[in-house]
Amino acid sequence: MMSVPRIVIYGAGMVGNYLGGRLHAHARIRLIARPQVANRLSEHGLTVSDLHAYRRHVPAAMLDVATQAEAVRDADAVLVTVKSASTMQAAHELADALTPGTLVISFQNGVHNTADLRAALPHCRVLAGMVPFNVTQPAPAHFHQGSSGALMVERSAGLASALLAAFDASGLSLHQCDDMQAVLWAKLLINLNNPLNALSDLPLREQLAQRPWRQCLALLQQEGLRVLKSAGIRPAQLTALPARWLPTVLSWPNAFFHRIAARMLAIDPLARSSMWDDLQAGRRTEVDYINGEIVALAKSKGMRAPVNARVVALIREAEQSYGRWDAQALLRTLRDA
Ligand SMILES: NC(=O)c1ccc[n+]([C@@H]2O[C@H](COP(=O)([O-])OP(=O)(O)OC[C@H]3O[C@@H](n4cnc5c(N)ncnc54)[C@H](OP(=O)(O)O)[C@@H]3O)[C@@H](O)[C@H]2O)c1
Repeated sequence: MMSVPRIVIYGAGMVGNYLGGRLHAHARIRLIARPQVANRLSEHGLTVSDLHAYRRHVPAAMLDVATQAEAVRDADAVLVTVKSASTMQAAHELADALTPGTLVISFQNGVHNTADLRAALPHCRVLAGMVPFNVTQPAPAHFHQGSSGALMVERSAGLASALLAAFDASGLSLHQCDDMQAVLWAKLLINLNNPLNALSDLPLREQLAQRPWRQCLALLQQEGLRVLKSAGIRPAQLTALPARWLPTVLSWPNAFFHRIAARMLAIDPLARSSMWDDLQAGRRTEVDYINGEIVALAKSKGMRAPVNARVVALIREAEQSYGRWDAQALLRTLRDA
């Protein structure tokens, strides 16, 4: 790998553009984007910011944006940032275009993307990654990190020091981890809130400040933890508390929760889940790859996961016709599931 690595971001949306903007001054960044995203970047340039007052603008003339998969050919590393439903399509495009041996990192939610990429790209070095924070788009071509946390990546000798140095310099250090499946399952437990946030039609901070919404999430997580336990999966600890304590803490009354668990609400006041964005834009959501994974894992163990199954069904309905839910009504529905 060269001293300044060529990093190609495959699927420049919320996460991809944010990572690209942060890394731009420290690596040779190329964004592979849909034509409409490429047009917005060429009109506005790329702005990235975070909740800690970081802000940077990259003028359009300094951006390297492509819309064809062939543009990955000279990459030292490819960061895959498409939604889970697009992974296989992206993998086939990459298989035709990538030079054997290229490093590929999946920075996606969901627990099967890395395995899918590995199967389709047997001649590449594919690693699992995890983005812990939320990214929104407050203005065209402006991508904002709305919560905190360190990027994680599977430990590997294939992670060149120039790549790690570029992430360090960008302020987004890559934390290497030995058991990324445990990390991805833990992230999935947290992401069980994504459909709730989408159905609430509220910013994340406002939603989680309300006990009935937290109780809905606690029901989803309790069920998820039960299914994971029966499958012998131990989720990693990504928050101040072990994952198994979260349902209890989420269920605490507001006064207690706000005093003791204030860090859980350290989220930008406007941040929302990307599932909310998908529903607003009339796109199919990632719910099958989040709550649907709990339902599928339960089935594979001869169990049921009715609470998560109910939420998957509600999101399917919302994909056809969006309607906001009242928290108490949803809590009753989930308790009856
Ligand atoms: N947003 C967040 O806050 C956040 C935080 C942590 C993790 N994540 C995870 O990160 C992943 C990406 O999420 P996101 O919110 O960044 O998604 P996104 O905004 O939808 O960005 C993905 C982009 O990739 C494009 N794309 C899909 N297939 C492509 C292909 N074959 N070639 C070129 N472009 C392609 C998509 O276009 P189309 O829409 O046309 O398919 C879209 O513009 C997901 O797994 C998500 O769960 C998201």
